[in-house]
Amino acid sequence: MTTESARRTDVRADPLEELAERIRTKQATVAVIGLGYVGLPLLVSVARSGFPVIGFEVDDARVESLRAGRSYVGDITDAEVAALDRVEFHADPAALAGADVVLICVPTPLTDHTPDLAIVREAVDAVGRHLAPGRLVVLESTTYPGTTEEVVAPILESASGLTAGRDFALGYSPERIDPGQDLHRLEETPKIVSGLTDRCRDLAASFYSQVIQVVVVVPSPREAEMAKLIENTFRQVNIALVNELAVMARDLHVDIWEALRAASTKPFGYMPFWPGPGVGGHCIAIDPSYLSWRVGQQLGYRIGFI
Ligand SMILES: NC(=O)c1ccc[n+]([C@@H]2O[C@H](COP(=O)([O-])OP(=O)(O)OC[C@H]3O[C@@H](n4cnc5c(N)ncnc54)[C@H](O)[C@@H]3O)[C@@H](O)[C@H]2O)c1
Repeated sequence: MTTESARRTDVRADPLEELAERIRTKQATVAVIGLGYVGLPLLVSVARSGFPVIGFEVDDARVESLRAGRSYVGDITDAEVAALDRVEFHADPAALAGADVVLICVPTPLTDHTPDLAIVREAVDAVGRHLAPGRLVVLESTTYPGTTEEVVAPILESASGLTAGRDFALGYSPERIDPGQDLHRLEETPKIVSGLTDRCRDLAASFYSQVIQVVVVVPSPREAEMAKLIENTFRQVNIALVNELAVMARDLHVDIWEALRAASTKPFGYMPFWPGPGVGGHCIAIDPSYLSWRVGQQLGYRIGFI
């Protein structure tokens, strides 16, 4: 048997190896689930990088809008939607049967101050019901450490009858999009990537490195889930701090802007934050609660600072 025919035999015998080949050659069809602030820009980047894409969205009006070349997300123009090539939009989950790589970008809200993964469970179940061997599924929604292993993997396995890490690959990669800003383009923002097993991680890294310039690999989904919560908790705590400093500065007859500008000249050990209404995007106020809830639920204590 020649080396080439031996390799082809191996590929046929191993669906994940076949997937690796389809990712390498950009023949893999990528489904993006949930076409909102996160999912639609991601879909545009994946399509521009040369993969055929299926956009799946439960809101029929959004599907109709995208099919007509109209965007409803501020960061994406109508022209960008209209220019998409080899992209289909669907509200019927049956379309997911044609996907090799599935990226899940659905909302993760709080209900009664508690993480509500009902939408993630629903989306993951739809993916699981249309899953076949040799696929890669990646959760991108922000969530607490342990979600991919404890929530996503069991739903996918029970809905599909397949085994995560063996029959299909599973990963977690948090989204870092900065809505309303064009300073940090999605393709230029380093992407944290993880997998349930080393092989899952390598497949996910191989996919994202075709779309994003810098891929940062971490040992397991828990580190990737935690990293996103650290980023947004850091931001929330610092914005709260600077707003409190602004109140005390006024009472101390200090110009807070001049004081902060002066502090921000320090080239190490300081990162500037500025006072203002609110804390930024809606996730900044929600995400720290995913972390504090998880600590209470799993460890039984409260984090005072967050
Ligand atoms: N918006 C941000 O700046 C930002 C940044 C980083 C991470 N995130 C995280 O990304 C995730 C998505 O947030 P978003 O801001 O894009 O939300 P969004 O509300 O803008 O969009 C979510 C989309 O998912 C659709 N959807 C809901 N249930 C679905 C289902 N079962 N199947 C398919 N589609 C479904 C909704 O109709 C909506 O179009 C959240 O976990 C959020 O915390 C958001």
